[in-house]
Amino acid sequence: MDDQIFLGIESSCDDTAAAIVTADRRILSSVVSSQTDLHADFGGVVPEIAARAHAEKLDLAVEEALQQAGVTLRDLTGVAVTAGPGLIGGVMAGVMCAKGIAAGAGLPLVGVNHLAGHALTPRLTDGIDYPYLMLLVSGGHCQFLRVDGPQDFTRLGGTIDDAPGEAFDKLAKLLALPQPGGPAVEAEAALGDAERFRLPRPLLDRPGCDMSFSGLKTAALRLRDRLIAEQGGLRQQDRRDLCAAFQNAVAEVLAEKSRRALAQGPVPVLAVAGGVAANKTIRAALEQVAQDAGSRFLAPPLRLCTDNGAMIAWAGIERFRLGHRDGMDLTARPRWPL
Ligand code: KG4
Ligand code: ZN
Repeated sequence: MDDQIFLGIESSCDDTAAAIVTADRRILSSVVSSQTDLHADFGGVVPEIAARAHAEKLDLAVEEALQQAGVTLRDLTGVAVTAGPGLIGGVMAGVMCAKGIAAGAGLPLVGVNHLAGHALTPRLTDGIDYPYLMLLVSGGHCQFLRVDGPQDFTRLGGTIDDAPGEAFDKLAKLLALPQPGGPAVEAEAALGDAERFRLPRPLLDRPGCDMSFSGLKTAALRLRDRLIAEQGGLRQQDRRDLCAAFQNAVAEVLAEKSRRALAQGPVPVLAVAGGVAANKTIRAALEQVAQDAGSRFLAPPLRLCTDNGAMIAWAGIERFRLGHRDGMDLTARPRWPL
């Protein structure tokens, strides 16, 4: 069984990705082609542009993934593809590409939920056992998942409005910092005084693991406007202090909600995925929470935390092992709760 080899295809947002992964957890190749430049002028991902770019780039990404892995279609055991949730045009392009390969090469097809791909990543990178707690924090997602099996996810809570990455990006825009906002805000925050301003900790006073980040962004906007009105402009130090206050507020909310999620039923591992997990302050806060709860903290390498094809190949392998196969009637789903 360990010589099973899967191709994984991902195209649900703004990355066109393909990867070759084995059932014994080797990533033979992982090609990610980002569309960031295409969308830069629009301040966000434009679905039509994304869909067209995926359609154009998918074949090349698959070809590169096969080539880099040193395998041909004949060596594959199956094809896994993100079938949702995501931007429908991109998901459709990926599903059609996968169907073409599966039909042409006579290979089994496995449709994968994008969120399951993220959630199962620690099993690929570190071979951990079930159960574990996954905090998914990116530009589009924010939720706690208790993972008990390849298809056994319990959502313990999540954001009721913006995802944290989205909030970082919006703050960067307010402060005229470059996009993506997360790394820019983190760099400014490192030079700021987190104690100077106090931003709210939304929903912290309410029980449970739900979170909210849009109020935090609004509070930052008001603070910025007040400073501009009082001083006639925003000083460099104001910007840095605001970033530090914002980052601390996000870290504290994520940490406290993680504490509650772990308290609901102890698990050996707290794992994170998503671009926001790159933030060192947030990482340190989560690591402390895990340690206090007697759990191991696990953050897979960033290239496997953000969107990629390897996680889809792996989730496909896990589903395939359970006997799951999809037919040519596999459909792309814009919404697909776990
Ligand atoms: O997982 P990801 O690459 O893409 C999806 O959203 O699916 O996450 C990107 C998000 C962006 O919003 C970006 O600003 C944020 O992750 N991000 C960060 C950091 N690096 C990336 N947020 C805070 N601190 C960072 N160092
Ligand atoms: Zn994602």
